[in-house]
Amino acid sequence: MVKISNVFDKIKKDEENKTPPSGQKNTFQSSVAQATKGKTLYFSHPQKEPHPLKGYFSNVLKLKAKEMEKTNQALPETETCYSMEKEDRICPVEELERLYEDILFIIKELLKEDTDYTSLETRTIMEKIGNIVDQLTIGNDDLLALALTKDSVDINYLLCHSVNTCIYSIDIGLGLGYNRSQLIELGASAFLHDIGMKQYLGLVNRNAVLTPEERNEIKEHTAIGRQILENINGLSESVINTVVYHHERIDGSGYPKGLQGESISEYAKIVGLVDMYTAMVHPRIYRHAYLATETAKEIMRNKNAFVYSLLRVLIERIGIFPPGSMVQLNTKETARVIKRNHKFSMSPLVQVISDADGKPLKENKVLNLADDLGIHIKGRLPIKT
Ligand SMILES: [Fe+2]
Ligand SMILES: [Fe+2]
Repeated sequence: MVKISNVFDKIKKDEENKTPPSGQKNTFQSSVAQATKGKTLYFSHPQKEPHPLKGYFSNVLKLKAKEMEKTNQALPETETCYSMEKEDRICPVEELERLYEDILFIIKELLKEDTDYTSLETRTIMEKIGNIVDQLTIGNDDLLALALTKDSVDINYLLCHSVNTCIYSIDIGLGLGYNRSQLIELGASAFLHDIGMKQYLGLVNRNAVLTPEERNEIKEHTAIGRQILENINGLSESVINTVVYHHERIDGSGYPKGLQGESISEYAKIVGLVDMYTAMVHPRIYRHAYLATETAKEIMRNKNAFVYSLLRVLIERIGIFPPGSMVQLNTKETARVIKRNHKFSMSPLVQVISDADGKPLKENKVLNLADDLGIHIKGRLPIKT
């Protein structure tokens, strides 16, 4: 078997070494096919180095399973959810970073001007999104931390934005009890939601706020998205509709049609909400990132545009102390949130990174703030301190 990460390394090298003849379309799909010919794609889960939080995950999962048993809730229809035996499938951060890079590479290829969409197999995209779904389902919050901390400024903004919107949307879907195939479909919609922006990359990456005219012009990206996606074999109508309608708002203030309430699909409502959240918590060339709490407040100011129940899921799951965010403890230490606590959202698991005097910590100090330690979060800090 061949590791998917190696496959993509090979694709990258192939692409670097290859100069397509003039007039020839981008050969992304053929590169994938060539690199994987006769081989089974799989996502590697090295067993040698267990995740440092392995025991913690186990306890959380056991508690969750017991909780669900008590309330007679059906377990979600996912392959990996709450399965103790599959706990070893929690990937270490390096593996997740590679997954992130792989999917970033896919969107980069898709946004190229000369991409031949008719030759693209959706399997390549769905497999990667399936990997993300599986990691989030078994409670691997490191992926959410990546989605918060990956910098969009140095490279094409749309690349990270697409991947981050995908990751967060899947997490909201998990909060809504979606099954695996729904999560993959939602994730694919979110991943592709701004594909029509390929026409406007110059505007999107420019070091300036858009003028009202330019903002109006880029509204066309939803229709362009449909034109592009209709060329890709195997994409469901539901994915295409989500991409087309992700800027619709339930109060009718959105576009392209000014749809209201129930006439907007739930996927489109989720992607629209997460799109706004993701855009705000990440920096642009011309502005700093907003703190997660500032973003949540701003979204609440627009609450008529979004479904309240979805807003609640967003805020409960990623709106207060999302993994990857920086906090100050009452001990004056600085810490990074590394794992959420769904039962006590104000008391996540944190890793202390500097002491009360601001000196970087040499040892690995992880605190579960839900334990009775007399330690709590005093304030939020920007991600890069
Ligand atoms: Fe958009
Ligand atoms: Fe977007």
